[in-house]
Amino acid sequence: MRTPLVVANWKMNGTLAGARGLTAGVLDGLRRPRGVEVVLCPPFTALHVVGELLSGSPIALGAQNCHWESAGAFTGEISPAMLVELGCRYVVLGHSERRKEFGESDEHINRKMHAVLAAGMTPILCVGETAEERRQGLTFATVEGQLRAGLAGLRNAAIGACILAYEPVWAIGTGVNATPAQAAEVHAYLRGRLAEVASKEVAQRVRVLYGGSVKPDNAGALTAEPDIDGALVGGASLNAQGFVTIVKKATHKGVTVLRGDS
Ligand code: 13P
Repeated sequence: MRTPLVVANWKMNGTLAGARGLTAGVLDGLRRPRGVEVVLCPPFTALHVVGELLSGSPIALGAQNCHWESAGAFTGEISPAMLVELGCRYVVLGHSERRKEFGESDEHINRKMHAVLAAGMTPILCVGETAEERRQGLTFATVEGQLRAGLAGLRNAAIGACILAYEPVWAIGTGVNATPAQAAEVHAYLRGRLAEVASKEVAQRVRVLYGGSVKPDNAGALTAEPDIDGALVGGASLNAQGFVTIVKKATHKGVTVLRGDS
């Protein structure tokens, strides 16, 4: 059984004080999570302080991007080794905002996938179609292309160590989430392609998260779908209480997230 995973992508938000407060709120709400794994991805500038607060807790630290080289003349970039030093275990790669706003190509993303895995971290590879691509019936072709390109050259064992996130671009930050049925259809499709690219066994192991306007009131229905293994949460992860509620809704049924002192 795949343990659900809920990842907070804070994007470019928050001061250090805000990051401390948000982390404290999440830790307070999720002292001993069971049946679910949780990752916080603050901006680079807050990784150190958030990492210190999370240290010794079951909540893991992740980054929102990185470069593929380990060091060198790459002004403004951050290497996988630097993230490892800060305690990061996950890196979000290929987010649509990076693809669109910063011109990241499938080839860039593939290089990053290799580099993150080589550094011993877990990449979270994001794929998703635009509204126009969906209108044109290109949803499956788009996500399949991004998936195959992102995983190119990786061995089965490496693919088995990755996490995928289906984030339809039209659902990100819009308040219009994919319906559970719409998301489940694409998740099942992605799992089918994973079986082709790697193996059936790998496809059954890899967690596929859904992202795009996940909120406390829709997280339960989305993650109840058998092929949806958790959530990648943007805006709603900036509120500790709301994020904690999402985590609880994503937790496997029959397992309780225990709050330490209640
Ligand atoms: P929202 O949850 O704000 O729609 O963002 C989703 C996202 O892009 C997470 O990576």
